[in-house]
Amino acid sequence: MKLAVVILAAGRGERMNSPLPKVLHGIFDKPMLQCVIDSASGLKPSKIVIVVGKNYGEIKDAINKSPHPPFIKGGREGITKGKQSSLSFVIQKKPNGTGDALVRAKSALGGLKDFIGTILVLNGDVPLITSETLKKFLSLHLRGKNDISLISFAAANPASYGRILRDRNSRINSIVEDKDATEAQRKINEVNSGVYAIKSGALALLKEIPLNAAKGEYYLTDIIGIAGNKGYKINAYCIGSEDEMMGVNTIPELMKARKIFRERLADAWIKKGVIFFDHDSVFISDSVVIGNNTTIYPDVCLEGRTEIGRGCTIYPNVRIVDSVIKDGVVVKDSTVIEGSVIRAKAVVGPFAHIRPGCDIGSEAKIGNFVEVKKSVLGGGTKASHLSYLGNASIGKGVNIGAGTITCNYDGKKKSRTTIEDGAFIGSDTQLIAPVRVGRGAYIGAGSTITKCVPAMSLSVSRVEQKNIEGWARKKFKIQSSKFKVKKKGNK
Ligand code: UD1
Ligand code: CA
Repeated sequence: MKLAVVILAAGRGERMNSPLPKVLHGIFDKPMLQCVIDSASGLKPSKIVIVVGKNYGEIKDAINKSPHPPFIKGGREGITKGKQSSLSFVIQKKPNGTGDALVRAKSALGGLKDFIGTILVLNGDVPLITSETLKKFLSLHLRGKNDISLISFAAANPASYGRILRDRNSRINSIVEDKDATEAQRKINEVNSGVYAIKSGALALLKEIPLNAAKGEYYLTDIIGIAGNKGYKINAYCIGSEDEMMGVNTIPELMKARKIFRERLADAWIKKGVIFFDHDSVFISDSVVIGNNTTIYPDVCLEGRTEIGRGCTIYPNVRIVDSVIKDGVVVKDSTVIEGSVIRAKAVVGPFAHIRPGCDIGSEAKIGNFVEVKKSVLGGGTKASHLSYLGNASIGKGVNIGAGTITCNYDGKKKSRTTIEDGAFIGSDTQLIAPVRVGRGAYIGAGSTITKCVPAMSLSVSRVEQKNIEGWARKKFKIQSSKFKVKKKGNK
């Protein structure tokens, strides 16, 4: 079967009361439209055509700017799942309705105009739809040899949807929008999801859709009645759940969709053996992978292409983005990890910031108020307190004392600091890059290191300490007679 997908995303989205185009509102870390594109990509269509309005540039930028890098060093194969199909954008200058939007897709794209196969039409504001449901729907459509099929569902509150009208043999004959429905029709709770499969031959019917005078729009839903009257084979499959098929037109609906999405993800991980203390407060992107026996505390965000290993503990207020966390890692409270690899049994945090491009070795320890950027730390290396490590290659078993700073930027360029295995960097050391500290070398606390330090040596660059006996006593006597220094033995 040859399949093309058209996603309608050009509507005004007025009910959102927001300057952001409706389809760019995020379910979690990706816009609604991206969720729909990802589900459509799961069907491997020959193309995906997105109908956008006058905010074309904004939408294209948000979609093309993949929110997450395609590859994480150290990640498992497969974490880059959901490769996006090729996208084309078509502009619908005026939002003249869903029927008009599909006409734009048909006429503006030469390829689609001559396309022979199945066209799957999706709404950009139905973000929770899954590839699995779409696959099932397409197979029903093909098996039924229908000209047009659609997915319907039973809605607890059908008010914002088109109602499915069926004849006495339960065959669909048309769809009526809420605004145009009679009181009796409004009571029908089987509604249109906005997902259609259309045989390319039936696209000719689009030009017969009349203008809905009340709304000034061409309703795609009218194609059903027209097709039925002309003897085309039409069918509505009530296969969607309300949670999956919900349309998002307002901010309260967006909040509801986020809640459903969050519960869906958490439930799936709970079944696979992930332990949550309060899964209602945890946000997990659908591209995240979590190993079993990992414990996740409240208020944790796991975003993008993140992979968490087995037996890890993620304490509260942690945000991990596009990172690989190997087995047995402990991430303590209020830590941010971005675009990095944390190897087995390392401990990171509390209050640590691992910025993109880091590789933290197994059993390493990154403690409070330590920031690491574009750096590699070997196994067992410790930076326990108050440090900045940027553009550094640090070997195994290195001790980074409190307050150590790699001075990597001279105002123009960044330079690297290399610290070899087993070195000991005393507290409050500044390493002025480019610089190298050899294997097993010691740096005295408070040193400013500007030259390379040979292996197994001691380097101290601080000013030698002088003690001036009686200095304070003398100073106080001169400055004020009030500050008499008591002599030893005085009461
Ligand atoms: C639409 C359906 C309704 C269905 C519901 C499912 C119509 C007339 N009604 O109603 O039967 O129950 O979806 O969620 O189709 N769009 C365009 N161009 C336009 C207008 C809309 O591209 O000129 C896009 C929107 O961006 C949106 C989608 O089409 O992604 C649906 O439009 P919307 O206005 O939200 O339709 P609903 O009132 O929800
Ligand atoms: Ca809608």
